[in-house]
Amino acid sequence: MNRRAFLESAACLASAACLSGAEGPLRTHAAAHGLLYGAATAYGPLQNDPDYSAHLAAECNLLVPENVLKWTTVHPAPERFDFVPGDFLAHFAAAHDMRMRGHTLVWHEQLPRWFASTVTKQNARARLEEHIRTVMGHYRGRMHSWDVVNEAIRPQDGRADGLRQTPWLDLLGPEYLEIAYATAAEADPQALAGYNDYGLDYHTPEDEAKRNAVLGLLRRLKKQNVPVQAFGMQAHLSAGRQPTFQPETLRRFLGEVAGLGLKILITELDVSDAGLPDDAESRDRAVAAVYENYLTAALAEPAVVAVLTWGLTDKYTWLASRNRRPDGSPVRVLPLDHEFHRKPAWYAIAKALDTRR
Ligand code: XIL
Repeated sequence: MNRRAFLESAACLASAACLSGAEGPLRTHAAAHGLLYGAATAYGPLQNDPDYSAHLAAECNLLVPENVLKWTTVHPAPERFDFVPGDFLAHFAAAHDMRMRGHTLVWHEQLPRWFASTVTKQNARARLEEHIRTVMGHYRGRMHSWDVVNEAIRPQDGRADGLRQTPWLDLLGPEYLEIAYATAAEADPQALAGYNDYGLDYHTPEDEAKRNAVLGLLRRLKKQNVPVQAFGMQAHLSAGRQPTFQPETLRRFLGEVAGLGLKILITELDVSDAGLPDDAESRDRAVAAVYENYLTAALAEPAVVAVLTWGLTDKYTWLASRNRRPDGSPVRVLPLDHEFHRKPAWYAIAKALDTRR
């Protein structure tokens, strides 16, 4: 497909005339209730698979790079930044009337190999500030929000403040969070500065401890006037864990986060089908039920402004390698299947978005 035909097909799929009513794309369901719906996208498929790109543009009004704004890609050498992939995604988003969000500036994973040998206690603060200024500055005024800090809490690491043992904590102490948010606020005052984390979804002692530790962190930051403005709930769910999901627990937690004056985004939603029976129909039903129950509970919280799935189609999902099925059959974890057909999960998300007041 040439570029023009591709853009036209994407525009058609996105237009209300092409698909209307209940069959309209998720971005329309979301927008009708003042919400954004988006998906994480990898660079390769967006460059090479026009059908995929057309569906992404059709369904989403928010886009987040799955990997290309992480340190490994965007900061490949100490004195070099690479914005080619990120810019490709940013242009795609702008061309299709989608907002974009940034992921992520401070994280203990996907750090480049040079990091450990180059960043020291002496230069860590300057390196962190430079990274945030350069990367956020490059997209200044164009981002809906940024995951400024990702996954900073891990109660099992045994610290009273719940902070995870990470290179940033080793280098700078707990102050790394304040440094990051202060630098972010200057680098792009228009982007919502977020804190993003996982493992907060279930009614289990482990998730409860993590919820408490995350709330503790957010309270401390707010009390110190650290400019954190949004909370990202990753929401990597598992259909096999359904019995430990309690809507009330989720609502209470999101209510407490909202009470701190933070906007909330569901940032990385997907539903693993690990451990479910092989037959696709019953798997799809179970996965869809999880999407619907979770989102219906989450969207009851008025502070929630956006829902993003971590991928759009089962053709491209990190769970394909992470949760390989014993029978070798493809995972069925996202709204669209391998051929981009809508699955029960798609309808479950549409329904949950529709119930938002
Ligand atoms: C994952 C990507 O999906 C993979 O492609 C990559 O290999 C590892 O990272 N939490 C996050 C995301 O914040 O950045 C992670 O993304 C998934 C878990």
